[in-house]
Amino acid sequence: MQNNISRNFKEKKKIVIGNWKMNPDNPKEASNIYNGIKRAASRISNVTTIICPPYPFISLFKSTSKVFLGAQNIFYEEKGSYTGEVSALQLINSGVEYVIIGHSERRKLGEKEEDVAKKVLKAVAAGLTPIICIGEEVHDAEGTYLDLVKRELISSLSLLKKTEIWKVIIAYEPVWAVGGTAAMSTYEMHQMSLYIQKILLDEYGKTSSTGIPILYGGAVDATNASEIIKKGNIDGLLVGRESLSAERFIELLKAVSNANN
Ligand code: PGA
Repeated sequence: MQNNISRNFKEKKKIVIGNWKMNPDNPKEASNIYNGIKRAASRISNVTTIICPPYPFISLFKSTSKVFLGAQNIFYEEKGSYTGEVSALQLINSGVEYVIIGHSERRKLGEKEEDVAKKVLKAVAAGLTPIICIGEEVHDAEGTYLDLVKRELISSLSLLKKTEIWKVIIAYEPVWAVGGTAAMSTYEMHQMSLYIQKILLDEYGKTSSTGIPILYGGAVDATNASEIIKKGNIDGLLVGRESLSAERFIELLKAVSNANN
């Protein structure tokens, strides 16, 4: 079995995900941003672009081979009396292929590690590719953040079978950089991605863990994307604010594409 992600690995494509969060305010604006991005993305062949709009706008768009559609959350139950929640199956049946799970902004609102693991399980079972966010709030000098990142990573995958681990994307997002003015240094990023790779290798073995994309997120823009791709040892980017302007996001996609040549 092969999904888009294993193809990315083979074709050496980078992955760029736009997380719109609770923006924009209306469908017209959403369509303008999406269509602008789609036009440019269709000319960039070495980057896989995924856009994650808020739920009300999802049905306005279609996943295509140029821009894939993602959501920002799911619920871990399949159906029933869960007012306000959205299931993995509802998303799959609405044309969604990816879903962000465990974003730090959701964890701040009370999402627990057990919830993240249950959501990852349901996403994979339904055929969605989970984009699992992990990352420390504080990058302390003693290095205790390393334990936290390891715990978040292992617990998020804890309900999957070893043979299913390859179906996920990991987005390492140091919480202190998300929404901030500066990204993590590419040196530290490189160290963190090696660390995450090593944990995956130790826990799940080479066959299961090879090719799992490790993305970086937190204050990425068109000016730092190139250096991150060249020096950060990462497979792509999770982008918040800069995905809300088609022009700026296109610049960012081009920077990633050029750096990946
Ligand atoms: P930012 O957000 O790019 O605005 O820092 C990243 C994220 O929340 O995924």
